[in-house]
Amino acid sequence: MNESSSPFIVTLDGPAGVGKSTLAKRLAETLDIAYLDTGAMFRTLALYLRENGWSPEKTAAGNDEPAPRELLSGCVFTLRGSGAATELLCNGTPVSDVIRSEEAGMMAADIAVLPQIREYLKTAQQYLGNTSSLVAEGRDMGTAVFPSAACKIFLEAEPEIRAMRRYLQLRESGKPCNLAELTEHIRRRDQQDRNRAHAPLSPAEDAAIIDSSYLNMDEVFAAILRTIGAKRRTPPPVYAMRRQDRAISREECLALLAGCEYGLLATIDKSGWPYAVPLSYVFMDGAVYFHCAFTGHKSNNIVADNRVCFTVVGATLPVYDKNYSTYYESVIVFGRAFAVKDEQERTRGLRMLAEKYLPAHMDGFEESRRRSGGRTAVYKIVPDQITGKAKRPREKT
Ligand code: DC
Repeated sequence: MNESSSPFIVTLDGPAGVGKSTLAKRLAETLDIAYLDTGAMFRTLALYLRENGWSPEKTAAGNDEPAPRELLSGCVFTLRGSGAATELLCNGTPVSDVIRSEEAGMMAADIAVLPQIREYLKTAQQYLGNTSSLVAEGRDMGTAVFPSAACKIFLEAEPEIRAMRRYLQLRESGKPCNLAELTEHIRRRDQQDRNRAHAPLSPAEDAAIIDSSYLNMDEVFAAILRTIGAKRRTPPPVYAMRRQDRAISREECLALLAGCEYGLLATIDKSGWPYAVPLSYVFMDGAVYFHCAFTGHKSNNIVADNRVCFTVVGATLPVYDKNYSTYYESVIVFGRAFAVKDEQERTRGLRMLAEKYLPAHMDGFEESRRRSGGRTAVYKIVPDQITGKAKRPREKT
């Protein structure tokens, strides 16, 4: 349900020279979604930091936050377009080919070992993945950045074979190269990527591993498409309701969602702990809307993993009918939460919240929105599954 409105994330990780970029672009083109080259983000950030007078050599050992925070937060990434034509923008300008130089690659590798830099880019990457469907290419996309991606692919190929492919590529484009040096370079990069302390290169437990050593590009691409086909429609969990006789209809569920006062939102934090929080909300156009601060436990969890479970409880009445019992009615929604970006939709959500909870004070709405609207994030939960249950007086127990 509502697949078109849930960002669909495919992660493509693997070592240097395995053909990730070519395959990721082709895949993004086929799926007509954006292509996120996270190596380009590391390269761009490395150049940006150097232009602004900072380099990792200036870092004192053990310093957890080596780059000034204001400097980092001045480097904002966005995406434009889709497929192979996707553009990565830094502060509104498409990143240039300067980032493709060997030197920029080495500078990227140097900053990529710093936890502070990885955290900063991880948040930026997750933000992009929360707002649009992506093929995300890199080293730690399936493990650290998008742990709940719909489909994870890890590409492998023997280092000698990767070196030979690069050798042939360079030779074809008339660039002088030495196969032994290229092999050594690939081995060193592997060593660095696989052994770094923070987010090392390794396949996620649920990734499909495709060894391309003895396959051509078309064969690898076909294997990727098969994997996606198998995983794309992963539904939310279905817990069988023990008392089916108490299940309520979809219409009753929707009426309860529309009529209940507060709800309980459960999110998942980075370490896998559930976090459930009481919530004021409105049910509007088939989705649950709520507001909160841009950063905080709720927002951070949702940005990292947008799967949520939302529950409401309607009327309740403890009863004694020779048994201790309770009449109740409740609904559980499984879905995905998205930051609402459209200004009109955001304002409508906030207005509906004000009308639900403080209808007698709507004259203050515009003023309040002007004062704090910019600091307020609006999220919507797009349901994948809605179920409800009730025990009511007319029933026999
Ligand atoms: O893929 P690339 O060569 O453009 O990447 C440049 C460097 O950035 C490379 O040394 C590995 C690092 N990198 C990373 O650590 N994590 C990513 N997700 C992407 C790149």
